[in-house]
Amino acid sequence: MDRIFSGVQPTGNLHLGNYLGAIRNFVDLQNKYECIYCVVDLHAMTVWQEPKKLASNTREVTASFLAAGINPESSIIFNQSQVLAHAQLAWIFNCVARLGWLNRMTQFKEKAGKQRENASVGLYAYPNLMAADILTYKANHVPVGEDQKQHLELTRDIAQKFNNDFGVEFFPEVEPLIIGEATRVMSLRDGSKKMSKSDLSDQSRITFTDTEDEISRKIRRAKTDPEALPMDISGLKSRPEAANLVGIFAALSGQTSSEVLKDFGGRGFGDFKPALADLAIEKLAPISSEMRRLLADPGHIDAVLADGAERARAIADPILAEITEIVGLVSA
Ligand code: TYM
Repeated sequence: MDRIFSGVQPTGNLHLGNYLGAIRNFVDLQNKYECIYCVVDLHAMTVWQEPKKLASNTREVTASFLAAGINPESSIIFNQSQVLAHAQLAWIFNCVARLGWLNRMTQFKEKAGKQRENASVGLYAYPNLMAADILTYKANHVPVGEDQKQHLELTRDIAQKFNNDFGVEFFPEVEPLIIGEATRVMSLRDGSKKMSKSDLSDQSRITFTDTEDEISRKIRRAKTDPEALPMDISGLKSRPEAANLVGIFAALSGQTSSEVLKDFGGRGFGDFKPALADLAIEKLAPISSEMRRLLADPGHIDAVLADGAERARAIADPILAEITEIVGLVSA
């Protein structure tokens, strides 16, 4: 059976983009594949995290997985640092990947910004750890939002170079699964920027912990233009904010953007925004309340992570043992 791996960073402010671009798809895929879903705490550390906050954010992402409908019995849910194989394989990949490849990574450039000299080495090597996450399970499908595409191309390059260098057919070809109508959800304040956990404005995103009032206020205040919605999607081309809201509606309602415009084309945002707010609340409120219920019992969440980690190790350790033998590292 094909194996799925994906990860979410526990850096707080889990948002609608994470849900529509990734977590919701995790749920849909779990009946078709063997699925491994990871809370990537080692990735989060590449930028400063308050230790207590890192722990609570790790539990929060885990709770969001469970509340969204991932079944911890059929899928594996765990946090990355509990399975040492990730860090071990990442070191081997640090020695396979080339500096030139990492220099091209746009996410590093965006995150490091003008402070490049001051960025952690971990932030720079981040994509190698991500390749290790996936390949330590020999996973071949990776559901992600569009922003992770370049990292997955690097994962393929690393796998291929490893296979070539050592003359083996060991690692599979990794395929990104970028699914749905909202693979790149944009900021509610600026249609040219993606919705992100690190945006300074809380108004730019809808989070899993927003109340119904907050969701509706954020949507009401979302930036738009003064025109009515167009009759078909060609009319959304130069209207990024409108395109974003229609895309979010489509993804939440399980329609295409064209179908949404069949209902709302010709109508103004005064009609559309309340309908979108109602829909977002209908879909997100049950998840938020289930998350709150789960977070009241951190012991249960930690037990889910411990069980998942044990099952993850049972897959990863034998694969890592083969890798160390291939590269010539002696083990007793
Ligand atoms: P992270 O934690 O930033 O985001 C988690 C998932 O949410 C998707 N996403 C979005 N989708 C649509 N619109 C948006 N605005 C949006 N923002 C985020 C991301 O594409 C991602 O799927 N590097 C990864 C974590 C990771 C990983 C992995 C993923 C580590 N190892 C191995 C897959 C496989 C990240 O930072 O995701």
